[in-house]
Amino acid sequence: MDPYTRWTLTEVLSIREVGLVATFTLERLADGSLVSVVAVGPQDRARLRAELIEGFARLSPESRFSRFLMAMPRLTSEQLRRLVDTVDDRDHVALGLELAESGTPIGLGRFVRDSVVPTSADVAVTVADEWQGKGAGTILIRALAAAAKKRGVRHFTALVLADNLASLAMLRAVGRVTRCEHGGGAADMTVEL
Ligand SMILES: CC(C)(COP(=O)(O)OP(=O)(O)OC[C@H]1O[C@@H](n2cnc3c(N)ncnc32)[C@H](O)[C@@H]1OP(=O)(O)O)[C@@H](O)C(=O)NCCC(=O)NCCS
Repeated sequence: MDPYTRWTLTEVLSIREVGLVATFTLERLADGSLVSVVAVGPQDRARLRAELIEGFARLSPESRFSRFLMAMPRLTSEQLRRLVDTVDDRDHVALGLELAESGTPIGLGRFVRDSVVPTSADVAVTVADEWQGKGAGTILIRALAAAAKKRGVRHFTALVLADNLASLAMLRAVGRVTRCEHGGGAADMTVEL
C-alpha cells in the first residue's frame, strides 16, 4: 500500500554539512498537497517580514478580522515589529507552512510566552484563505504544541471570535480547551497541552 495515501508522511532528511543538520517535516493536506513545516528563527526575520506583508495583503477582510479581532486594512509598523522582531525561537516561536514543491508559504503560526506565567503562551495561527479547511491549521497547531512542550510551555491561550468554530476545533486538536466568554463577541480559550 502506498503510505502516502493513508498516513501523514513525516520524513526527516538530515543534511550534514559543516556540522549543520537541517530537519524538514513533510505532511499531506486533505487535498493531497504535500506541505512542510518550517521553523522561523531570528536569522529569518527579513524573509518573515516580507512574507507577512505579502501574505497579509492577500488575506480576506474576514480572515484578518478573525485573526486580529478588528478591521485591519494594513499591518502597522508597530504590529510588524511585534510579529517579526521578537521572534527568538525560545519565548516567541514562529513556524511557517509551505507547499513542499514550490516553497510557497500558505500558513503561519506562532506562540509568545507569557511574561508573568512562563508555562503559558499566547498562540495564533493564520492560513491563507484558499488553503483553509484542508488541515493546514491543524498541522501548524500540532507543530506549535510540540515546540511549546519542548520549551516548558503547558498551556496555550488564545482570544478568538466566539463564533470562530474552525479555530476552536483546531485548538481542540492539541488538548482540552476551556472557554471563557470575553464580551464583545470574543472568547478566551485556554488549552491544556
Ligand atoms: C482558524 C484557522 C487557522 C484554521 O485553519 P484551517 O487550515 O482552516 O483548519 P483545518 O482545516 O486544520 O481544520 C481545523 C478544524 O476546524 C474545522 N473547520 C474548518 N473550517 C471550519 C468552518 N468553516 N467551520 C467549522 N469548522 C471548521 C475542521 O473540520 C477541523 O476540525 P476537526 O479536526 O474536528 O475535523 C483558519 O481558518 C484561519 O486562518 N482563519 C483566519 C484566522 C484565524 O481565525 N485565526 C485564529 C487565531 S488563533
